[in-house]
Amino acid sequence: QKASIIIDKSFTISEVDERLYGSFIEHLGRAVYGGIYEPEHPEADEEGFRKDVMALVKRLNVPIIRYPGGNMVSAYNWEDGVGPREERPRRLELAWRTIETNEMGTNEFVAWSKKVNADVMMAVNLGTRGIDAARNFLEYCNHPGGTYWSDLRKEHGYKNPHNIKVWCLGNEMDGSWQVGHKTAHEYGRLALETGKAMRLVDPDIELVACGSSNTNMPTFPEYEATTLEHTYDVVDYISLHQYYGNRSNDTENYLAKTMDMDHFIKTVIATCDYIKAKKRSKKTINLSFDEWNVWYHSNEQDRQIEPWSIAPPQLEDVYNFEDALLVGSMLMTMLRHADRVKMACMAQLVNVIAPIMTENGGGAWEQTIFYPYMHVSLYGRGVSLQPVVSSPKYDSKDFTDVPYIDSAVVYNEEAEELTVFVLNRHLTDKMTLTIDVRSFEGYQIVEHIVLEHDDLKAVNTLGNQRVKPHSNGDASLTYDGQIEALVNKASWNVIRLK
Ligand code: AHR
Repeated sequence: QKASIIIDKSFTISEVDERLYGSFIEHLGRAVYGGIYEPEHPEADEEGFRKDVMALVKRLNVPIIRYPGGNMVSAYNWEDGVGPREERPRRLELAWRTIETNEMGTNEFVAWSKKVNADVMMAVNLGTRGIDAARNFLEYCNHPGGTYWSDLRKEHGYKNPHNIKVWCLGNEMDGSWQVGHKTAHEYGRLALETGKAMRLVDPDIELVACGSSNTNMPTFPEYEATTLEHTYDVVDYISLHQYYGNRSNDTENYLAKTMDMDHFIKTVIATCDYIKAKKRSKKTINLSFDEWNVWYHSNEQDRQIEPWSIAPPQLEDVYNFEDALLVGSMLMTMLRHADRVKMACMAQLVNVIAPIMTENGGGAWEQTIFYPYMHVSLYGRGVSLQPVVSSPKYDSKDFTDVPYIDSAVVYNEEAEELTVFVLNRHLTDKMTLTIDVRSFEGYQIVEHIVLEHDDLKAVNTLGNQRVKPHSNGDASLTYDGQIEALVNKASWNVIRLK
């Protein structure tokens, strides 16, 4: 089969905000305890952080990490996690029904983030709490000093303000499972008033309002519209969350699910712009896709967990090869909306629905999804260009006209690099792909990275990386500025030019 892509320097979508490659650490399962923090581990540094895990996080070049939840934040008292460790309370953690020891809290997380070169995206509790706790927390984190909360931070050993710029006003407040779940009107009013107070404390912050928890929520997209009616003037972003799974073992349909993601993004953009028009506003609200990934493998196992244990294995999806293909496609979908999707967080980062897995006291390794995430984070910085794709198409259970070839393109003018990301969704046929790169005169192919495997269900385990990329792809540049590439069946490809 044959397909083609036309790429041109002038087909600009937008500069990519590097925060598109963010991730997420929630106080959930073994993300924190046994994941990033394990003081007894042989690889632990002087602050108890696992160096092996930090090394893997650094390979992903993650620019921003959301914290501390997630559902967990909706019943969290941030004060529990600061100050002398021995005085911190143990609490029932209501979202995941575990015991939170609070050994790790805001200050330690900020310190860890610095070590992995990431900024923090902080969430405040708008489930059980509100304006007062949020403004105090912000004062504790960002105010230089001379006030009760900022001086308390200093007393706790953090002289300089953390200067956390991005703040989420709650989490998934549309969901009935959320502690303190709210209607859109209730949430919108609270988010507005909390945001107003927070901006008075620190006018330089950016605020994210909650949107819908997924596209199937009955209140989608009304929840976004009503929330923005209230909060439009005070917030900068609206949040999107979406997880996919292959529950019916229908891979053709599964790999097409990014068409739903694309539709989700377009609907949220339309909703934001409708409110903009209604308000005759000059301001544009952008999108923060701050939870996205595959999540379904561990659902059954999680139903067996004993309540009130400490850091049990929860949401430990073991990802297979086809999941990596979908993750690549999800990243490309966001890249093609780089003009409006400015931030995104792969949910999550370590152990909990994560690209990085660990054993308590043992090793750490890359799951299959680590690789497309790493490729796009490393090579997807610059300007997102609109690829013009001609590809054979198929129909699946839920989608029609699904192109076998899915692509996104990033041009880094400063580094003089062009990267073409390509997914072949065809499960049996390779594709002969012609890519027109005539506007990139003098560029040569540096590398054609491929992630492929004969078994769609192949997984990685500690010490056995069955699914990992190689650089032996088949792509060559002809004299007239065309790339001829062979793109294998069910494969993720990164063609790099310089
Ligand atoms: O990422 C896991 C959970 O998914 C988060 O806590 C919640 O926000 C979402 O439902």
